[in-house]
Amino acid sequence: MANDKVSIHGSWASRWVFILAATGSAVGLGNIWKFPYMTGVYGGGAFVMMYLVCIALVGMPIMLAETLIGRRGRQSPVNSLKSLALDSGASPRWSWAALMGMVGALLILSFYSVVAGWSLDYIVGMGRGQFNGISAENAGASFGGLIGDPWRLTLWHTLFMVLTGFVIARGVVAGLERSLRVMMPLLFVLLLILLGYSFTTGHFMEGFHFLFSFQPEKVLDGVLAAMGHAFFTLSVGVGSIMVYGSYMPKKASIGATVLTVGILDTLVALTAGLALFPIVFAGGMEPGAGPGLMFITLPVAFGNIAFGQVMGTVFFILVMVAAWTSSISMLEPAVAYLVERTGRSRTLITSILALLCWLVGMGTVFSFNIWSEAKFFVFAVDGFHLFQWGAEGGKNFFDSIDYLTSRILLPLGGLSFVLFAGWVLGRDAVREELAFRSPVLFSLVYWLMRVVAPIGVLVVFVAELTK
Ligand code: TRP
Repeated sequence: MANDKVSIHGSWASRWVFILAATGSAVGLGNIWKFPYMTGVYGGGAFVMMYLVCIALVGMPIMLAETLIGRRGRQSPVNSLKSLALDSGASPRWSWAALMGMVGALLILSFYSVVAGWSLDYIVGMGRGQFNGISAENAGASFGGLIGDPWRLTLWHTLFMVLTGFVIARGVVAGLERSLRVMMPLLFVLLLILLGYSFTTGHFMEGFHFLFSFQPEKVLDGVLAAMGHAFFTLSVGVGSIMVYGSYMPKKASIGATVLTVGILDTLVALTAGLALFPIVFAGGMEPGAGPGLMFITLPVAFGNIAFGQVMGTVFFILVMVAAWTSSISMLEPAVAYLVERTGRSRTLITSILALLCWLVGMGTVFSFNIWSEAKFFVFAVDGFHLFQWGAEGGKNFFDSIDYLTSRILLPLGGLSFVLFAGWVLGRDAVREELAFRSPVLFSLVYWLMRVVAPIGVLVVFVAELTK
């Protein structure tokens, strides 16, 4: 059956635009903020290695599955799954996976926008030289001051959400494609400037050893975290890549394209690590600081080395651009779906959805200050409480949404998508979309999608829930 559907939302000019878009989605806070700090926390090289394995065996097959489902379906993820399932004689309920993913993507956007907002605040702070010569203690206090101030957080969160909505409202070609053509090259240039700078700090090899020195005894510590992060960093499991796949030209080779995206994402994460750790060491700081690495440790480091003010500003601009090209991909699946479903204007639907995400995001804003005592999922001596004010354990609003999305919705979504491509779509359809020349390569990739990736997700998912 030839695939001659076209998307009503528009198409990328070439497969390169898909690469820009999918790489833009993949490269984000996950690469620049989470990856370096997780590497710091889970002991360097051992974590890096588990991460690479998870990317190759699980993340990439899922990304491939999403892309090919999207391109074959040519509609929003929900409708693509529905129509492809019906074509294959399967239940249209497969589309529920995409519905769940869509909600997951909006939930991620709600807190992503808040954290991205911090980087906006830091662009201003760095630019004004507020961190020059700062001590670790004062940097901690300054970060504490930011997240303790709901007004300031709201301001930046609002601004970032408006930026995101603005690009999406303008549409696939005039909004997404046009801005990605500018932002992605900028992102790479900024990253290279930063890497070049880290060479000059005199601590480059120290950073290099930290990232790549391999300690076998630490390998198992970070497997669960590495798997969760592999999903997050590749943006798979919610339909972001699927919706971008639906705008891909018919002739483009999916295999090579997806491989390029995965490699670029990994290279950016490694380069970010290589750029940041030498700066951390040069500033006399420790790499294991956790989430505070980017907002406390780095500012101290930048504040205390030559050209730190300029480079620090460049760095936070980089973070903002990376987060922006990711956040748009979280909004697009739902916007595409509701445009298809209601026939209303893209601008109207974008505005409503952005407002909704903004509202949910206010929960994250408040979880750092006035609602920090509001705890969900509390396991206490007297039993389980879904919600309790001021409980000892439990998770605040932000942690709850983060947990719900990255530990539950992403793996479930990714599993459904890869199972759909591997077991429902049919061998011939998959072969036609992939169009590999080598039959051996096809069999290998198909086997990864049918067997290896699903088992990988299941094992880690169960291990996670029973932990
Ligand atoms: N991959 C992005 C990052 O590393 C985040 C992201 C964008 C994402 N779209 C997503 C994560 C969809 C999960 C699902 O920062």
